[in-house]
Amino acid sequence: MSHIHSPALEKTGYVVLDPYDQTADPAEWLDLAYTPWRSSGVTRFAALASHSGDADCDGFWNRTPPRADKDGVWVAAQSALAPTLVRRAKEAGATIGRCRVVELQPNTYADAIYNLHQDDNNRLNPDGTGWVVRGFYNLTDDPESLLILRQDRFDPATEVRLPLPAGSRIVVDTQRFWHAVWHRGTAPRYALITSWTSGPELDAHLAAEHARSDVTSVPLDPDVVDDAQQELHRRIEERRHAFEALGEVLEPTAPLWP
Ligand SMILES: [Fe+2]
Repeated sequence: MSHIHSPALEKTGYVVLDPYDQTADPAEWLDLAYTPWRSSGVTRFAALASHSGDADCDGFWNRTPPRADKDGVWVAAQSALAPTLVRRAKEAGATIGRCRVVELQPNTYADAIYNLHQDDNNRLNPDGTGWVVRGFYNLTDDPESLLILRQDRFDPATEVRLPLPAGSRIVVDTQRFWHAVWHRGTAPRYALITSWTSGPELDAHLAAEHARSDVTSVPLDPDVVDDAQQELHRRIEERRHAFEALGEVLEPTAPLWP
């Protein structure tokens, strides 16, 4: 037996939906309470749905009792402040696990490459049930910023770069891809991130929103890529030495964040 996957995601592991008209929506994300939570950069998170309906953004498998990233409980105080964001997360019709707004401070391409990680969405996810994927809905207008996806963490030839204007909507199998955001803005970037369970409901939503994977990756100067690769390996070495000094071993291919 294996998990149920979305056919739309089978080929590339990501899809881009029709852009959403973000301009008419209130900036509800600015009203939410954020918890410092370093994940893939200088970030804070505002929980809308969590393991137990509290503000803890941690993976459900790290909570008590542990479970898969499904059946998230709405955080009453937060979801009351962000009814539009909750509606948008629910619109997919699929079971929701974690639902959060991420706040990301501006960074560099080298930062983003160093921050690349795979999510652990499907830990404790029973065989035969839907595979958990993530929706990234950009709330702020960050057309110069890029969601970076790599099949191979260390191979830039496997990289896809997707722009993040307001209303952009990308659904990614984030356990399959190494991913991070290069945020080229001057103000924080905000995005709604939702864990959805694959199945007929999500498939119908992806079809209705014209999900497509034949999108053009934003080109990047090869010198910029080379410099970032060197910086990536320099930082990993630096980190390895720091771990060694503490008497610990750093797995070179280990994801940096859950
Ligand atoms: Fe992630």
